[in-house]
Amino acid sequence: MNNLNLNNIQIVDQFFNPYPLIIYKNFLEKSQLDALQNSLSNDSTIFDKTVMGNRKTILKGTKNFKNFIIKNSIANDINNFFENSFVFNFFYNNLNNLNKKNAKYFDFKNKNFKFLKNFISRKNDISFKIRNRSSKILSNLINDCRIYCDFDFSVAGSGYEREPHHDKEGRILNFLLYINNFDGKKGGNFQIFKYKENPKEYLRQPLLNDVEMIKKIEPQRGFLVTFLSSPNSLHGVDTILPTNNKRYFFYGSYTSIKKIDWTYK
Ligand SMILES: [Fe+2]
Repeated sequence: MNNLNLNNIQIVDQFFNPYPLIIYKNFLEKSQLDALQNSLSNDSTIFDKTVMGNRKTILKGTKNFKNFIIKNSIANDINNFFENSFVFNFFYNNLNNLNKKNAKYFDFKNKNFKFLKNFISRKNDISFKIRNRSSKILSNLINDCRIYCDFDFSVAGSGYEREPHHDKEGRILNFLLYINNFDGKKGGNFQIFKYKENPKEYLRQPLLNDVEMIKKIEPQRGFLVTFLSSPNSLHGVDTILPTNNKRYFFYGSYTSIKKIDWTYK
């Protein structure tokens, strides 16, 4: 039985240009991947919404997410695994070391990390607003970098796509686990983009003419992709063509409650 620990995982591929990305395997066992896939394909599973063309998603911090992890013990284990500062440090340090191999790279100064457990809430209620606001005030006083974990379980089908973009400003790193194999000829590949020339402004959605795709990662069952979420971390997904197959995955991040002050040096 794999009890979700970092000792089991092995690096299968990594690169640092244009931004650091590491792919691991052996995070989950076949039976655990089966259980996740079965739950996500079960008609009784309720998703929060459909986004990005055709991606049904269950978002951490919602009632549906809570119900999903109650019903599915491996999903619960995954949630608990990532809600851990040690796990964040492990993935961040590996990416950060790789990043330094670039002659010039994006980095930020305030690494006085403080991990906020189970912070994310989709309810825009008063208690969350107060918690969020007071955390920001304290963070400014102490000058720390407060981070939380966010993620979703998702199922993508025909029509799902992502244009080249980088994720929201507070993100530090992202992780993506493929629950099943998906034939890359049908789309659904993770694409890595690079600016043709360093831009004046690193837009979240750059003009297509300014970037080029330099690599594709085909979804392979059990592969865990991690990458730094700096302003040049451009990524996308090519359109899933008409098919009855689905791409099952979870996508998550470690995100700061304040904007990260990335500088290129
Ligand atoms: Fe993204």
